[in-house]
Amino acid sequence: MENLITLVNNIQRACTALGDHGEESALPTLWDSLPAIAVVGGQSSGKSSVLESVVGKDFLPRGAGIVTRRPLVLQLHRIDDGKEYAEFMHLPKKRFTDFAAVRQEISDETDRETGRSKQISSVPIHLSIFSPNVVNLTLIDLPGLTKVAIEGQSETIVQDIENMVRSFIEKPNCIILAISPANQDLATSDAIKIAREVDPKGDRTFGVLTKIDLMDKGTNAVDILEGKSYKLQFPWVGVVNRSQADINKSVDMIAARRREREYFQSSPEYSHLAHRMGSEHLGKMLSKHLETVIKSRIPGLQSLINKTIIELEGELTKLGKPIAADAGGKLYTTMEICRAFDQNFKEHLDGVRAGGEK
Ligand code: GDP
Ligand code: NA
Ligand code: MG
Repeated sequence: MENLITLVNNIQRACTALGDHGEESALPTLWDSLPAIAVVGGQSSGKSSVLESVVGKDFLPRGAGIVTRRPLVLQLHRIDDGKEYAEFMHLPKKRFTDFAAVRQEISDETDRETGRSKQISSVPIHLSIFSPNVVNLTLIDLPGLTKVAIEGQSETIVQDIENMVRSFIEKPNCIILAISPANQDLATSDAIKIAREVDPKGDRTFGVLTKIDLMDKGTNAVDILEGKSYKLQFPWVGVVNRSQADINKSVDMIAARRREREYFQSSPEYSHLAHRMGSEHLGKMLSKHLETVIKSRIPGLQSLINKTIIELEGELTKLGKPIAADAGGKLYTTMEICRAFDQNFKEHLDGVRAGGEK
C-alpha cells in the first residue's frame, strides 16, 4: 500500500506540474486515465456500505429505499500529515472535520437539486477527502438500479438510472464493483447484468456479495464464492456490512470489521474461505489491482516524461540567454520537476522490484 501511495503521488505531482506547462503535454491525460472505482447494483444491495468500508470511514448516507439519488464523485487525496478533512466542490471555502456533517451535507445537497423527493439527478456531487490514510483515488457512489417507478418518481426513472450508471461504468478506466445481495437469486442480479454488458471479458469487474448474514436458514453462498455458480475473472468477495439496526445504534467501522472477520472465521460453511472474505480483503484486492494497472502504464509514462524533458530543453535553448524571465522561468521549473520525477520514479521502481510481490 505504501508503495502504491508513493507511486501514485509521484505521478500526480508530475502531472500537476506539467499541467501548468500547457495543453501539449500528454501527462495530465494520463493521470485522467488512471482508474476510478464505481459501485453498481440494485437499490439497497449495499453499495454505499461497501464504498464506506473500502474508504474506512463513515460518511455516506445509507438505508432502505432510494437514498443515493445523485452520483457522488469522491476524490481521496493523500496529505503528508495533519488532521483529515473533507471539502465539497459546491462549498469551496468550507473545511469539514466532522464526517457526520459530511453525510448531512451530501443529503442536503441532494435535496437542493432534486427537492425532498424520490427523484434522481445525474448532476454529480463532488467531494474530496484529504487524509494521511488514503491513496489518491477516485470512487463513485451511484443510485441503485430499479425495476419500477414508485410514487413521486417519473415514468422514465428506471431507464434514467440505468443510463446514468452506464455513462460512468462504460469508461475503460472504471473499475466496477458489482454488488449483489446474497439474499436474492444471483440470476436476478442487476449488477452482474450491467457489468457484463459494459465489460464482457470481466477485466475490470469485481463481484461483491453482500448480506451473507441475511440468507435464509439452510442456504449458503459457498457455490457463488467458490466461483462454481458464476465465474468471474477475479474471485468473488463476500462481505457482511452493518445492518440497519447497527446503523441506528451507530456501531463503528472497527467493531463492524472485527465482527465481519469473526463471522467468516467461525462459520462452518465459510471458514475455509475466510482468508479471502470481508471488506478488508476487498480493499487489499483493489489496491493490488490498482497497482497492476498503474505499473502497466509506467513505461508509457516514462517515455512521455523523457520526451517532455527533451522538448523543454529544446524550447529553453531557443529562448536563448538571458532567458525571458516569465516563460523561461516556468519552463525551467517544469523541466526540473520532470527530471526529479524521472529520477524518483526510477528509484521507486527499483524499490518495488526489490520488494517483490506483496
Ligand atoms: P445501497 O442502496 O445499495 O447504497 O445500500 P446501502 O448501503 O444504503 O444499504 C441498504 C441497507 O442494507 C442498509 O440498511 C444497510 O444497513 C443494509 N445492509 C447493507 N449491507 C448489509 C449486509 O451485508 N448485512 C446486513 N445485515 N445489512 C446490510
Ligand atoms: Na438504499
Ligand atoms: Mg446508496
